[in-house]
Amino acid sequence: MKRLDPILEKYGNVKGSLVTILQKTQDVLGYLPEEALVYISARTGTALSKIYGVATFYTQFRLRPVGKYLLMLCMGTACHVNGAAEIEAAVTERLGIADGETTEDGLFTLNVVACLGCCSLAPVMMVRSQDGEEVYGNLTRASVQNLLSEIAAGAVAVDIVAGTGSAAAESAPTEEVGE
Ligand code: FES
Repeated sequence: MKRLDPILEKYGNVKGSLVTILQKTQDVLGYLPEEALVYISARTGTALSKIYGVATFYTQFRLRPVGKYLLMLCMGTACHVNGAAEIEAAVTERLGIADGETTEDGLFTLNVVACLGCCSLAPVMMVRSQDGEEVYGNLTRASVQNLLSEIAAGAVAVDIVAGTGSAAAESAPTEEVGE
């Protein structure tokens, strides 16, 4: 749970930040495992029952593991104005899942997120799997559907990647999370 420390150091003592902490936690882990909620409770002094209450009240939060490939589709400002909604529609059309849902075969989970920090590549989607994370930018309806097909086929496309790797996300502009 050490991966949550930067989040807790930034928001742990900020009043009314529980939703933000849970959002950030889910962004990092893909969902909200019990272990993470217990850790947040211990670090913030917030009752575990309250954390569960918030985590179960908002539909954006998931308490179950996600699919083999977590599709983190950015809906931050830059991506939004560059057609992220169209990309989301293309993903939904291709996979038959909406935000927060997992395909029946357990392969994909779609998660609409705030800024991934690489706005110059907008619209952007990060794909997280046990192999790591890849950031795909300058997406189009066709390219994202091709990407999903190739992931499903076991061969991740690289030719449409405008920028890859978590380093791209880390070195890009700061995040923006609406609250
Ligand atoms: S708004 Fe999408 S990466 Fe910043």
